[in-house]
Amino acid sequence: MPKFPNDFLWGAATSGHQVEGNNKNNDWWKWETSEKVKEASGNACDHWNLYKNDFKLAKSLNHNAHRFSLEWSRIEPEEGKFSSEAISRYKEVIQDLRSLGMEPIVTLNHFTLPLWFYERGGWLGERSGHAFANFAERAAKELGKNVRYWLTINEPIGNINSAYIEGKWPPGERSMRKAAKAFVAMLKAHCLAYAAIHRVYKEKRWPEPKVSLAHFTVLYTPCRANSLLDSLSANIRHNYVNRSFIDSLISGWCIVPGMPLARLPVKKSLDFLGLNYYSRDYIHFSGFMPSAIFGRICSLEHHKDSGKRNFLNWEIYPKGIYDILMEFKRYNLPILITENGICAKDDNERIDFIKDHLKEVALAINEGAKVFGYLHWSLLDNFEWTHGFGPRFGLIEVDYKTQQRTVRPSARVYANIIKENAV
Ligand code: GAL
Repeated sequence: MPKFPNDFLWGAATSGHQVEGNNKNNDWWKWETSEKVKEASGNACDHWNLYKNDFKLAKSLNHNAHRFSLEWSRIEPEEGKFSSEAISRYKEVIQDLRSLGMEPIVTLNHFTLPLWFYERGGWLGERSGHAFANFAERAAKELGKNVRYWLTINEPIGNINSAYIEGKWPPGERSMRKAAKAFVAMLKAHCLAYAAIHRVYKEKRWPEPKVSLAHFTVLYTPCRANSLLDSLSANIRHNYVNRSFIDSLISGWCIVPGMPLARLPVKKSLDFLGLNYYSRDYIHFSGFMPSAIFGRICSLEHHKDSGKRNFLNWEIYPKGIYDILMEFKRYNLPILITENGICAKDDNERIDFIKDHLKEVALAINEGAKVFGYLHWSLLDNFEWTHGFGPRFGLIEVDYKTQQRTVRPSARVYANIIKENAV
């Protein structure tokens, strides 16, 4: 039975807007209430009020870590004005995790933006990185005493694709030019926030924090096995989605001379790598026009039998997590799996998913990937963005009418793996 390293972090992940409920002061709420999606987040899981109960359940399932996000629009409802009420609540949340012996892993931005920030252009607005770093600094000062692990931005590339290329998420843009601008803005925001958090810990003489981001990863395979053109497109997509953001940070983008960031007091901007992995896509070449550079996804047409699929039709491909870990091993940084999970009607599929993926993780560790934790997506069923409440990702089932929680059998299988520290 493959064993995991001692002190391995085991737990689950959530995000503020997807579970808390009533985050009315952000871009997503605005998007939902303009009927851009079929279902609005509303009360979601009412986790804002029920977090103690939810954490008690996580603890009973042997979790020793928990990833969640701060809702920026609650903490800073107007630019420069911070809500002491929201800050106290997040202090309690962190305190509660600590008292249960669970390591808090705190995301600063999980997609949603405060309305004031959104309305002046969101990530594309002037000095967006500085505004974000200001929030990061305040969060670190207020909450840092009990936090060691920070994730600045969740899935910059995933967000850019949905919000600026496909136009499905706020602000609903379809522009490569704006996508490129958002890419640079998020790089800058990450670097400034990374530096701000480190600066606060230094001033306060707290032990050094570990700061990263949660990176979107997808495994890409050519549609037609012996097509050079499909391989080319798959490769271009791979380099953009999996590598470009991290490569820019690793190559010292934060300290490029002449950029305003040149004064950053740090020489690096990632203390570890946070990786989210769900699935793989098949890629088909689609012409030499610049707009076709990433090819198109042909997973369903060409590969109906390629493997099992989840409720949202994403392929379930456990070996992909091994391949991704082997790919990211090159950076020689410790790795935290910040998300991995399945939406399924039949919980047996989740049982297989967890076991099969963890076996691949164990194999990758055995072959040198420095993985120090695994956070399953998600602790609870929750609001799945444009898909609403249909997809069920939770280890714990939520009845949205009564807010009743029911622990699924897969959660117990996972609890047992944690107890044995082996799969
Ligand atoms: C991730 C995202 C989460 C969740 C998950 C399942 O990309 O960070 O918020 O929605 O996908 O789709």
